[in-house]
Amino acid sequence: MRAAARLMAASDPWRKLGLTPKHCLKSFKVPYRETWLAVAGADIAGLVTITMYGTFRGYIQSLFVAPGFRGTGVGAELLTRAEKIIFKKAPNVFLCVSSFNRGAQRFYRRLGYARVGVLKDMVVKGQDEILLRKTIAPALGFKGKNV
Ligand SMILES: CC(C)(COP(=O)(O)OP(=O)(O)OC[C@H]1O[C@@H](n2cnc3c(N)ncnc32)[C@H](O)[C@@H]1OP(=O)(O)O)[C@@H](O)C(=O)NCCC(=O)NCCS
Repeated sequence: MRAAARLMAASDPWRKLGLTPKHCLKSFKVPYRETWLAVAGADIAGLVTITMYGTFRGYIQSLFVAPGFRGTGVGAELLTRAEKIIFKKAPNVFLCVSSFNRGAQRFYRRLGYARVGVLKDMVVKGQDEILLRKTIAPALGFKGKNV
């Protein structure tokens, strides 16, 4: 986890937002979150952190692919696996993407995410976080789905 936190903090958007390895490590360890790693031999290829608690149950806190593994489908695979875990218990997946992170915005749009709000100056002044949602049903009466 420490190695993953160092990799994340060295990469945008975390680097641009001024988030350190300590911030990233803490983001894995908050109660009710789970982090899944993708590995290739001894290398960390990527990770996804999910929260299944609170109003935004099914929130993806972080999705990160290590630089050498980007553009090879690891991000889509991690996101699909996170969605499978979430949709067993909740009908929505929520996540935030930084306003400057155009590549990731394209990636999420292609995978069915819709823009539902803008959180102005959320992490640092001058940079917004865009709230995205993918949904399969209204919450009332939802019994979980294997997708
Ligand atoms: C965004 C990200 C998760 C996508 O994962 P990936 O494994 O690279 O993506 P896939 O191979 O499954 O799909 C390719 C798409 O990812 C996006 N992408 C690829 N390289 C990227 C990069 N260096 N930075 C941001 N997005 C990238 C592009 O939209 C690309 O599609 P395109 O070829 O049509 O432009 C990954 O690139 C990444 O971790 N980037 C840096 C961290 C980040 O932005 N995380 C999201 C925070 S909300």
